Amino acid sequence: MTLKLGVLVSGEGSNLQAVIDAVRDKKLNAEIVLVASDKSEIPALKKAEKAGIPYKTLNPAEFSDRENYDQTLAHEFLKHQVQLVVLAGFMRILSAKFLACFPDAVINIHPSLLPDDAEKEEITLPDGTISRIFRGKNAVNLALEAGVSWTGCTVHLVTEKVDQGPVLAKKAVPILPHDTVLSLHSRIKEEEHHLLPLGIQEWVKKMLKVC
Ligand code: GRF
Repeated sequence: MTLKLGVLVSGEGSNLQAVIDAVRDKKLNAEIVLVASDKSEIPALKKAEKAGIPYKTLNPAEFSDRENYDQTLAHEFLKHQVQLVVLAGFMRILSAKFLACFPDAVINIHPSLLPDDAEKEEITLPDGTISRIFRGKNAVNLALEAGVSWTGCTVHLVTEKVDQGPVLAKKAVPILPHDTVLSLHSRIKEEEHHLLPLGIQEWVKKMLKVC
C-alpha cells in the first residue's frame, strides 16, 4: 500500500525535499498528495512545485481564529485522503481539533534530542554527560548557549503537548568548538534529511504494523 502523505511547511523545505527524494528513489513507499503552508513565496513551495506536487497556502490572517484555521487545514488534507501528516518545519502549533482528525498520525521533526520518556526533563548524551531538554522554537540556540557537547534531531508523534509526543527516531549530532547557530543547524539538518524518511518508516511499522 502506498502511504498518502500531507506535508506542512513554513520555510526552506529542505526536509520536504528529503521526503520528495526518498519517495522518488523508492526508499519510501509513499506519495506526497499535498504540501500546505502558512506562508506564500517560501522556498518550500517552489520545491513542491518543481516536484509536481499539489500545494496550498492558507494565510492565518484570513481566518477568524485558530480553530477555524486548523479545521480548514484538516479539511484540505482529508479531501486528499492523507493518512500521515508530516510537520517539516511548520511553525504553528496545531490544535486538538486538528490532531483529532488524524489520530496518532501527525509527526514532527525537531532539531534537538528529545527523551523516550516524555516526562523526563533531562537526557544522557553520547559522552555520558547529562543535558536538559530543548523544546520549542529555539532548540538549536538553546543547546549552543547551554554549552553541551551534543545535540541532535528527533522525529516524534505530535500530541497536544509541544515536542512531548512518543519518539519514533533520533540521531545525535556533536557540537563543535566554533559552531554558530547557523553551522550547527546546518549539520543538524544534514542528519534530519536521513532521519525524517526513517521516522516515517518507523511510523508505518508501529502504527500500520507493517514489517
Ligand atoms: C528543521 O530544522 C526542523 O527540525 C525544524 O524546522 C527546520 C525546518 O527546516 N522543525 P527546513 O524548512 O526543512 O529546511
